[in-house]
Amino acid sequence: MTSPTILVNGPVPAWLLDQLEKHFLHVYRLWQQPDRYEFLRECGEQIHGLVTTGGLGADRGLLESLPNLKVISSMGVGYDAVDVAYARQSGIIVANTPDVLNDTVADLAIALILDVMRGLTASDRYIRTGDWQAGKTLALGHDPKNKVCGIVGLGRIGKAIANRAKAFNMDIAYYGRHEQPEVDYPYYNDLISLANAVDCLVIVVPGGEKTKHMINTDVLNALGANGYLINIARGSVVDEQALVQALQHRVIAGAGLDVFEHEPNVPKELLGLDNVVLTSHIGSATQETRHAMAELTFENIAGFFNGVGVKTPVNE
Ligand code: 8YV
Repeated sequence: MTSPTILVNGPVPAWLLDQLEKHFLHVYRLWQQPDRYEFLRECGEQIHGLVTTGGLGADRGLLESLPNLKVISSMGVGYDAVDVAYARQSGIIVANTPDVLNDTVADLAIALILDVMRGLTASDRYIRTGDWQAGKTLALGHDPKNKVCGIVGLGRIGKAIANRAKAFNMDIAYYGRHEQPEVDYPYYNDLISLANAVDCLVIVVPGGEKTKHMINTDVLNALGANGYLINIARGSVVDEQALVQALQHRVIAGAGLDVFEHEPNVPKELLGLDNVVLTSHIGSATQETRHAMAELTFENIAGFFNGVGVKTPVNE
């Protein structure tokens, strides 16, 4: 191969684009092509490397139009939007950006727990709408201390959340496919039992078919009227209609949601509810972390073509 040709799937940080353009002779921006399909028909064969993001991924249609693709470097830890099975069978290496975002995502999970339990944004609304001045009452919040925080998926981000929750004197329990012998927290091999046992359920499992609608009506019923649901993972993990019902009818106490099933669309029923805190998929959205993710995305694709290999391959 002479000089590899790179395709960037959608908007990425300017720094990353700049690095790619300095390092590679040919870098195409797919999202800026007047006709994406015509571009792929005409130039798809030239592409050797694809840069994408966790949200944009790379579906089968896109991969099929890139017959000479060798590597996908995705800026994001979650790769549920990348057709990894197709990539594997086609010999395409996939890399993601794990670890560099653990603390930032864990911070947001804690922020959502504190907000939904203490009513930060509810209090902000109370001021902005004039309800405080009008002498209306603001509902009291709840303390996280002495409550049990159930982590669904105790991976690296889950552990970072657990460490932070402990600092607020919460007890920790977890559910996952396997018990982790080196971990002291109580393990539940059944999600309903965990939901029954905790006050706050934090979703940290990857998205995709295996976890689709894992949080359903039964889990929400088990979490119960004093329980909170926090989702910083993927919207697909939660049956959103079941959650809307549970929040409307106070089957659960509240929810803190950073991710949704059909982003950027959020169920309109949620917008009027005071027991839910909504953020716009900002789990990793800090200057520092997005820069670290961009660096790793670059390192992966440059490493592949330099012969060093990708630093953080997806192993499935
Ligand atoms: C962003 C994410 O959506 O890392 C992930 O899996 O969901 C986020 O960090 C995105 O990939 C940023 O490019």
